[in-house]
Amino acid sequence: MQSGEALLATGFADDIDPAIRSRERLDQDWRFALGHATDANKDFGHGLRAFFFAKAGYGDGPASREFSDAAWRLVNLPHDWAVELPFDGRGNTNHGSKAIGRNFPENSVGWYRKAFTVSPADKGRRISLEFDGVYRDSVVWVNGHYMGTEPSGYSGFRYDITDYINFDGENLIAVRVDATGEEGWFYEGAGIYRHVWLTKTAPLHVAQWGTFVKSTVNGAQAYLDIEVAVDNLADADQTFQLRHEVYGPDGRKVAEVETQSLNVAGHKTGLFTAKLAVTTAALWSLETPNLYRLRTLLVKDGAVVDVYNTRFGIRTIVFDPDKGFFLNGKNLKLQGANNHQDHAGVGVALPDGLQTWRLNQLKSFGVNAYRTSHHPPTPELLAAADQLGMLVVDEHRMMGTSPEIKGQLERLIRRDRNHPSVIIWSVGNEEWALEGNPLGTHLAIEMQAFVKRLDPTRRTTVATSYSGKGVSLGADVIGFNYGAQHDVDAFHRAHPDKPAMMSEEGSTLTTRGIYFDDRARSHLNAYDRQGRPGSSLSIEEGWRRVQERPWMSGMFIWTGFDYRGETTPFGWPAISSQFGMIDTTGVLKDTAYYLKSVWTLEPMVHILPHWNWAGREGETMDVRVYSNTEAVELFLNGRSLGRKVIVKDSHLKWEVAYAPGKLSARAYTGGKQVARAEVVTTNVPAQTRLSPDKITLRADGEDVSVVWVNVLDKAGHIVPTASDRVYFETTGPIRILGVGNGDPNSHEADCVADRHTYQNVGSWRSLAVDVIEGRPEWVGHGVDTSGWRDPMQWMPPEAQPPLTKGVVLQGRFDRSVIAAGDKIALFIDQLSPDQKIYVNGDLVSAQSVDGALKIELAAARFKDVNTLAYLLRTPEGGIPGIADRSVGGSKWGTLRVTQSAAPWQRSVFNGWAQVIVQSTGAPGRAVLKATALTLKSSAAAFNIV
Ligand code: GAL
Repeated sequence: MQSGEALLATGFADDIDPAIRSRERLDQDWRFALGHATDANKDFGHGLRAFFFAKAGYGDGPASREFSDAAWRLVNLPHDWAVELPFDGRGNTNHGSKAIGRNFPENSVGWYRKAFTVSPADKGRRISLEFDGVYRDSVVWVNGHYMGTEPSGYSGFRYDITDYINFDGENLIAVRVDATGEEGWFYEGAGIYRHVWLTKTAPLHVAQWGTFVKSTVNGAQAYLDIEVAVDNLADADQTFQLRHEVYGPDGRKVAEVETQSLNVAGHKTGLFTAKLAVTTAALWSLETPNLYRLRTLLVKDGAVVDVYNTRFGIRTIVFDPDKGFFLNGKNLKLQGANNHQDHAGVGVALPDGLQTWRLNQLKSFGVNAYRTSHHPPTPELLAAADQLGMLVVDEHRMMGTSPEIKGQLERLIRRDRNHPSVIIWSVGNEEWALEGNPLGTHLAIEMQAFVKRLDPTRRTTVATSYSGKGVSLGADVIGFNYGAQHDVDAFHRAHPDKPAMMSEEGSTLTTRGIYFDDRARSHLNAYDRQGRPGSSLSIEEGWRRVQERPWMSGMFIWTGFDYRGETTPFGWPAISSQFGMIDTTGVLKDTAYYLKSVWTLEPMVHILPHWNWAGREGETMDVRVYSNTEAVELFLNGRSLGRKVIVKDSHLKWEVAYAPGKLSARAYTGGKQVARAEVVTTNVPAQTRLSPDKITLRADGEDVSVVWVNVLDKAGHIVPTASDRVYFETTGPIRILGVGNGDPNSHEADCVADRHTYQNVGSWRSLAVDVIEGRPEWVGHGVDTSGWRDPMQWMPPEAQPPLTKGVVLQGRFDRSVIAAGDKIALFIDQLSPDQKIYVNGDLVSAQSVDGALKIELAAARFKDVNTLAYLLRTPEGGIPGIADRSVGGSKWGTLRVTQSAAPWQRSVFNGWAQVIVQSTGAPGRAVLKATALTLKSSAAAFNIV
C-alpha cells in the first residue's frame, strides 16, 4: 500500500490516466508581493483603472495579465506570510502580535500570481481551479477576469475556469488576499496556506466531492450504500453507466458492481446510488486503520470518460447517552486534544508531512481524538488521521443559517464525509450570543437537521460554555467546555437522552521546562493545576471526573499543541498561548506525561522537575512522578526516598531537599521493575545535537524532516536550562522552512525571508528624437521635461506626431528608505530591441531575468529625486503605448529595495529548539549544520531520493 503522503501527492488519483481526469498541484513558483489594504497606489495600482470591476476582463494592477511581476518574490505553497513578519506591540495579542491587521495595512494584503499553460489537447475538457484554503477574503482573477471572492479563510472553494483558458499561450492566475480581518481569536496566518489544484475532466464527470460511501456492518460482512453525483456540463443529455470497484486495504479488488444505463440532462446533476457487499470487512480502528478505496468509472459508449477515487473506511460509531462512545462496538473514552493549525517555524502553512508528524506526536502520549477547533481542517490532516487511526471532531466555524454560512457548512460535510476518522460534526463553539436564548436552541436544531440531510451517518455536536438554555438544549450531542463552568450531572439528569463529551477541559497555563514562575518573562511553572480557577479544572481533575462518569464520552484537553496568540494571562510581550500539553514545536510538557500515564499502557514513569538547581541546595523541591505502573520508588543519588503506590488517575509526590546529582525512579508492576526514569544535574553546555525524525526524504520539493536541536553537556545530557543561540546552514538539496523553540516569550524570527519593498517609477514623459546615435543630451539628469509629452495619455491616431527614429522616455522616482546592506534593483521590460538605459544620467547595463531586465544599483547613486531614462529606436509600428497606468508602471520601471533575510538561527529554550527542513526537488546528499558560539557544532546528513 502506498503511503498516505504519496497518495495525497497525487490527489489519491495515482491510477487514473491523466487524459481522463487529471488533478495537478499548483504549488510551486508563485510570484508573491505585499500590496496595501487601504492605499490603491501602494496596492500596485489595483482598483485605479476605470471600469476595473465594472467590465469583464478589466482586472487592473496585478489582476491584469499585462502586469509585470518580475520583481516579486518566488514562493511555494503552502505559504503563510504572517509568520515572516516581525512581532509588534501594536499587533493583536490574540493573534500572536504579528505586525499584521488593522494597524498594518502595508502588511495585510498579499498578492499571488502564477502563469500556467494548458495544452490545446485539453480543449473540450472542463478545467477547474481548486483552493483548499486561503486566509482570507481572497479574490481570484484569471487572465484579467474576475472569478469570485471567498471570505472564509478555512473553506475550500473552486472556480470552473474553462471558458477563460487561453490554449495557445500563457494563462495567469492572480489572487489578492486580505488578512486585515480576523475570524478567530488565535493566530490564523495569512496567505494561500493550503494546496491549490488544477483539475481537468470531461464535461460529463463525477462532481467535486461527489461520492458518499455509507457502510453498515453486519457480522463479518459490510454493506456499502454508494451515492454519486454526476455533473453533465454538456448541452445534450448523456447516457452512461457507472462501474464501482472496491479495493481492500491490501489493494485487492473485493467487490464490484455496474449500474444499468443512466441518464443526466444537459447542464444538470444526477444523483445515483448503488449497493455493494464486502464479505469480510477489515474494520477501520485506532489500532488497525484499514482503508478501502472505491474506484468509480463513468463509462459512455464503452469508453471510460471519468474515474474517481474515494478513500473510505468501514467502522461503526455510537454516542450513547448512558455509556459514552463506541467504536466498532467497543466502548472507549475519547482521549482528545483540541488544536489550532499552527506550528513553530511555519505558521499555518503546514507541509503535509508535518500533519502526520503532529498527529504522531499527539499519539505519543495517548491522544486518540482531535478536535479541529474552531474551523474546517486542511484535507491532508484528515487523510493523516485516517491513515494513523485518530478520531476527529470536525468543526465548522460560525453558527448560522444564512446562505453563506450554510454554504461553508455544506462544503465541509461534502468534502469530509467519507473520512472514517471523522466521528462527529461540530456546528459551533461557545457562541455567546446564542448560548442562553431560544434563538440558540433554534439555530442548533436547524443546523443539525441540515447536516443530517447531507450525512445521516453521523451525529452533530455543539461546544458550549454555558448549558441549561439556548444552544445546549438544541445540541444533538452536548459538548461541555470546562467542567467548572457547567453542572454536567444536573444537565445529564435533565437530558438523559443526550450523549455528552467534554469538548474542552484544562486551559492550564504551563511553560515547558519551567518550575518557578518568572512572570517578567511570561513563564509559568509546569506543575499541573487549575489554569482558570472557577472555570476550568486541572488536567488531572478534569480526567478524573470524566473517568467517574461512564456516560461522558471523553475529554478534549485545551490544547494539544501551544499556539501563537491567546497569550493568557500576559498579553504583550508574550506571543503564544501556554495551554498546550506540548509546546509550539511539539516538545512534551509534564502534563503530557500525566496524560501518557493515564492514556497509554506501555509501562512508563516520568519525573519532574529537572535537577539543575545550583544555588538552591537544601531547598525543598516539589518532586512529582507520573506512571502507569503499580508503584514507584524514588532515589536521590542512590538513596531511597521511599516507594509509593500509584493512585489511579493521579500522581505521586515527594518533597526532596535539593542536592545535585541524580534523581531516579523505578516503577514496578506485579513486584517487577517495568520502567525507570532519571533526571540528572548536568554540566555546562558543551555541544549541539541535531536529531532528525527522518533522514531519507523524497526529492519532490515537499517532503520534510522535523529536526530537534538540543544543547548538551559534555556527557551528552540535555542541559535543561540552556539558552544558547544556534546558527543553521544547509548544503545540498534541502532548505530550511522554519525554526522554533517553544518559548512563549521569544521574539526571535521563526521564518526568515528577503523583505522587498517596491516603488513604481512614475511621472513619465516622452520626447520624439531623430538623433539616436551617441548620447542625446535629453537622457541626462536634470533635463527640463515640462514640454515633453505624457506617454500614458492616449492619443487618437490622427493626433499622433509622425514617427521619428527614436524616442526618449524619462520617469522619476523618489529616494527610498534604504538601510545599510539593502540591495537595490530596477526591473523593466524590454521595450525595444536595442534600448539604452540611463539612471540619473549614467548609462547602465541590465541583466535578463525571467523575461524582464534587472538593473542593480548602488545606494550611493541615489538622489532625492532620481531619473530613469530610455533611449529607444522606434520599432516598426511605433513604441508600444500605455493605456493603463497601473500596469504600465510595473513594466517601465519598478524599483525594488531588498532587505536580505538574516541567517537562520534560534536560541534553544530550556535546551530545545526545532528546525524543519524540506527537500528542494533535486536528489542528492544534503547536510544541516548547527553551530553555536562556544559549543561544539553538529551536523545531520540527509539522503534525498
Ligand atoms: C475557550 C475557547 C477556546 C480558548 C479557550 C482558552 O473558551 O473555546 O477557543 O479560547 O477558551 O481558555
